[in-house]
Amino acid sequence: MKKAYRDVEKCRICHSRRLFKFLDLGSMPIPNGFLERDKLKTSEQKFELACLFCEDCCLVQLSIVVNPALMFKNYVYIPSMAKVMMNNFGNLAFQIYKEFKLNKSSLVVDIGSNDGSLLTFFKNFEVKVLGIDPAKNLAKLAEMKGIPTEVKFFNARNAKQIVKKYGKADVITATNVIAHIDNLHQVFEGVASLLAKDGVFVTEFPYLVDLIKKNEFDTIYHEHLSYFSLKPWIKLISLYGFEIIGVQRLLIHGGSIRLIHRKKSRKSNKALNTVKYLLSVEENQGLYSTKALIDFARRIENLKVELMELLTDLKKKRKKIIGYGAAAKGNVLTNYFGIGTNILDYIVDSTPYKQGLFTPGVHIPVYGESRIAKDRPDYILILAWNFADEIIEKEREFKKNGGKFIIPIPKIKIV
Ligand code: TMP
Ligand code: ZN
Repeated sequence: MKKAYRDVEKCRICHSRRLFKFLDLGSMPIPNGFLERDKLKTSEQKFELACLFCEDCCLVQLSIVVNPALMFKNYVYIPSMAKVMMNNFGNLAFQIYKEFKLNKSSLVVDIGSNDGSLLTFFKNFEVKVLGIDPAKNLAKLAEMKGIPTEVKFFNARNAKQIVKKYGKADVITATNVIAHIDNLHQVFEGVASLLAKDGVFVTEFPYLVDLIKKNEFDTIYHEHLSYFSLKPWIKLISLYGFEIIGVQRLLIHGGSIRLIHRKKSRKSNKALNTVKYLLSVEENQGLYSTKALIDFARRIENLKVELMELLTDLKKKRKKIIGYGAAAKGNVLTNYFGIGTNILDYIVDSTPYKQGLFTPGVHIPVYGESRIAKDRPDYILILAWNFADEIIEKEREFKKNGGKFIIPIPKIKIV
């Protein structure tokens, strides 16, 4: 893609043109586009942020695709900061290692391997590992931990090269990356050719059922091209001869789903009932028609009014408010609601490279967490609400000194 973005005209899974637009959040900078002070005066490139619902296969997808080179070549999201994420990776590796009886000659390939965090757990079980990730900076971190990494986007052609160089994979993992990929057919072609005959493909992504139910509109941003329910997902995997043999719902990222797949087989499949059950949950929630999505968009409008009333009221009372967690989702929320430095003095974040920078769009400065003890704000708006428990636990002192937390999602809560 040479252009900065392309419009989505056909469904990414079934190629239908019957796409219904909802939740139009307007134009926004890329939510991980943090700025240095001297760049604040130059204008930022903005891109539409809106969703489309496919009236044929029910996939929810963004209305545009921003050129991935703009978003991922120097990707800055590293999951290893948060305990919950690491626990989840450890748990995944252990489950797969045990259930599929991996050994020293097994090969695990991770698509979107980031800094190698997931593969490090597999490596501890002494299986062979290989990471694939287009971000050079992250691949370097992974190599430093002893995780061999191919710096590439994953597609059918690259999958063939990998087979030549490393052999077939017994396990392919892809956590929180499938939603980032435009051409899902390329991914599945690649997975189908890279996976050994009895191999398994394991993936995790945020689950649309949770996103809609818990009003997680701020997890919708340019990096996330698709928002899956099981119905369109099953349609996709069937095209490549896969079936689901394991399903787990997870709490991470506001509610995710872990799926284990194998090539279709006559062997017994204990996941059938769970899949059937979840399909009925999706249907009952209204995810196969536009109504639930229109309701969702309306709830977000109400949330905006309610939160802005609360925050402006606190400002009138001269309260000092700061944000916690310069997460991409926080940048969506502040930009869409119009929360700038008039409301939040700054945002604290534990990620060293974000500190000293400014958030895209609304330009809120980001500082280290230690600033809280010095500054003693009255309120902390938890923008990284998915880590609310971890953050509140960490900031016990602040709470003891009379400070209050505001958690905006799923609904406004003051702690
Ligand atoms: P994420 O939801 O996209 O992973 O972003 C979470 C952000 O919150 C990330 O920038 C790191 C930050 N964070 C803290 O600053 N302190 C913490 O204790 C945790 C768990 C996260
Ligand atoms: Zn479709």
